[in-house]
Amino acid sequence: MTTATKVKVITKAKFNPIFKPVNEWRGRYRILKGSAGSGKSVNVAQDYIAKLSDPAYEGANLLVVRKVEETNRDSTFAELQAAIYRMFGNHAPKIWKITLNPLSLECKTTGNKIIFRGVKDQRQREKVKSITFKKGKLTWIWIEEATELEAEDVDILDDRLRGDLSDLNPNLYYQITMTFNPVSATHWIKARYFDRSDPEVLTHHSTYKDNRFIDPGYYRRMERRKIEDPEGYRVYGLGEWGELGGLILTNFEVHDFPTGKEYFDSVYYGQDFGFNHANAILGIGFKDGEIYIRSELYVFEKDTEEIIALARKANIDPRVEMFCDSAEPDRIRTWQKAGFRAYPVKKEQGSVKAQIDFLKGRKIHIHPSCVNTLKEIQQWKWKKDPTTGLYIDEPVEFMDDAMAALRYSVERIRRGSAIEILK
Ligand SMILES: Nc1ncnc2c1ncn2[C@@H]1O[C@H](COP(=O)(O)OP(=O)(O)O)[C@@H](O)[C@H]1O
Ligand SMILES: [Mg+2]
Repeated sequence: MTTATKVKVITKAKFNPIFKPVNEWRGRYRILKGSAGSGKSVNVAQDYIAKLSDPAYEGANLLVVRKVEETNRDSTFAELQAAIYRMFGNHAPKIWKITLNPLSLECKTTGNKIIFRGVKDQRQREKVKSITFKKGKLTWIWIEEATELEAEDVDILDDRLRGDLSDLNPNLYYQITMTFNPVSATHWIKARYFDRSDPEVLTHHSTYKDNRFIDPGYYRRMERRKIEDPEGYRVYGLGEWGELGGLILTNFEVHDFPTGKEYFDSVYYGQDFGFNHANAILGIGFKDGEIYIRSELYVFEKDTEEIIALARKANIDPRVEMFCDSAEPDRIRTWQKAGFRAYPVKKEQGSVKAQIDFLKGRKIHIHPSCVNTLKEIQQWKWKKDPTTGLYIDEPVEFMDDAMAALRYSVERIRRGSAIEILK
């Protein structure tokens, strides 16, 4: 261990105090459950960047895992990169080497490294087994959205952390960190880590109320959810174990694919307007009867002019038909005046159900960059009848803005030339 080369951490980064025991834990497992927005991911990213930049931990290396390898780029990788910039400001590039292809982060002062993997299929699992580092050993694993993994996948990962570390550096230790929003109370993570006591395991709970840095808009949306969707609020607001069931769409897969419009039989946009809710624009493509979600633009508290400017920047193609929420004709006119082929989607008796049936009837591919669409689709549920406890044919109207955009985006294909286009 060298203490002479101490890195000067200028750090504007701040930590939420609720995670202090997590960041100090040296046992083998840190299991962080909590509501969306509680600060888990930011905390873990900052904690690892701080430790990996510290000469006291020379020889440590971090493997970051999500179910689908390709989803790391816009989540864990982005989070770790942001943590580097928060900590080191303008000095970041001098201290960390950031590589995009393949994704990796390497601390230039300690030689410690971060790499990214998935466990979605046999090929990705095999890649996990053959990891080596040019300096030190694999010591730490961060599994983000851990509920997406099978217990067996975690066993494979756990197996990677073995062998004596004391010759390398007496400060090193093996550790697996999991972060997730709880889903079903029958999930294996609950049984394995929460329902039995183990001195190697630290379980931790946090909610958006523990996050000092949460933006006020998010706080307001959560408070509204408490009233509008009490069951969803328990899981997504309070981070309590919930019930998996009543999901509307399960026929989707997340993977990388070429997004250029030339790869599809036809392409469309769907837009759901929102200000307090998200304003969501999805770019979709049809190919061989299957749906590909190619792009998303997902913003809060922006007016139409601002969104149009963002759409231009995001290369949303004005020549492609864009099907929008018919409740706001003024906004549609603003889009049309700006040169977009924006049209209203007529709402009729039963049309939501018919659109959902259409979506359920074909495979949906989601590009890994569409992180908000993925978040929504994983929790988009049918309402429950409070007296019978049975699901009814109506979606819960919460966090469903990308889902609305998705419903609109398929209207041209679902209704063909029957769709009425109002100028
Ligand atoms: N330590 C922190 N410093 C600055 N901002 C933070 C911090 N922790 C959380 N945030 C803010 O709160 C938001 C939600 O935190 P995040 O870690 O993504 O929550 P979770 O992973 O629990 O869903 C982040 O996008 C960020 O804006
Ligand atoms: Mg997170």
